[in-house]
Amino acid sequence: MTPQPAHSGKVRDIYDAGDDHLLFVASDRMSAFDVVMAEPIPDKGRVLTGLSVHWFRELAGAAPSHFVTTEIARFPEELRELPDLEGRSMLVRKAAMLEVECIVRGYLTGSAWKEYRERGTMHGVPLPAGMRESERLPEPVFTPSTKAAQGHDENITVDEAASIVGPDVIKRAAEISLALYQRGAALAAERGIIMADTKFELGFIDGELALCDEVLTPDSSRFWDIATYEVGTTPPSFDKQPLRDWLEARGWDKQPPPPPLPDDVVAATRDRYIAAYERITGESFDRWLRVASSTQ
Ligand SMILES: Nc1ncnc2c1ncn2[C@@H]1O[C@H](COP(=O)(O)OP(=O)(O)O)[C@@H](O)[C@H]1O
Ligand SMILES: [Mg+2]
Repeated sequence: MTPQPAHSGKVRDIYDAGDDHLLFVASDRMSAFDVVMAEPIPDKGRVLTGLSVHWFRELAGAAPSHFVTTEIARFPEELRELPDLEGRSMLVRKAAMLEVECIVRGYLTGSAWKEYRERGTMHGVPLPAGMRESERLPEPVFTPSTKAAQGHDENITVDEAASIVGPDVIKRAAEISLALYQRGAALAAERGIIMADTKFELGFIDGELALCDEVLTPDSSRFWDIATYEVGTTPPSFDKQPLRDWLEARGWDKQPPPPPLPDDVVAATRDRYIAAYERITGESFDRWLRVASSTQ
């Protein structure tokens, strides 16, 4: 019998892999404006998995992580039979997840820009007056949110987050998240990519806070190309912009069902995801496809 996922998210399927492990399988499902498109973007799940693995390695000095392997031979036997695992699956340690999302913002954009424009604050904390959309913040800020089971996560203050997970834990989560962001953003900047903001998920493994979930991927972060970044605008998203532009040009009302995507739009979106992988890692995507499931 084919194993069934213990959890099926918008993009990933998660399987129980014994008492201490989970198997994450990233699909090619694609969302835009919060709606999942009918057509998959071939290889997108492989790009997301490859990027996360890259970052688990690069960031190992800043925090331990849940990552174990992408080598299929090391997966529990009953899970090795699942179809299409190559390059998109990873075995991780099971963690006791924090009930908050650890967002770090380096630039004033998205929901933070909206709050600032309305109230002059970001997650309740005042910012300097006169800041413009997409401006770099004086320094990166830890800005937690709730982890909603359904619907949208809500931005909260660090004090509110402390009341959910405890003051000592939130202090440590903030330190780890800022260290991870700083190192990741510096490495991305060397390759011409701005990590405007990102969401980390931390959890306890063997009594220690560890980096879990996916890391610094286009689905968990805002990537901007330094070449097209401009303060006072909404910079194009490195990965999703061609798709968003096409959807906007169609005059779609952003309610399901989404319009069917023509082949050239699917291909352009796939190219963008692969370009993001190659820009950020400095490695060819073909190499990832070759090594992912065999050697680690
Ligand atoms: N190592 C881990 N142990 C336990 N849960 C994890 C671990 N890493 C991530 N998670 C959780 O697994 C879930 C992944 O769900 P996800 O694929 O993001 O779907 P969605 O968020 O759309 O429900 C999240 O709740 C995340 O916090
Ligand atoms: Mg999630």
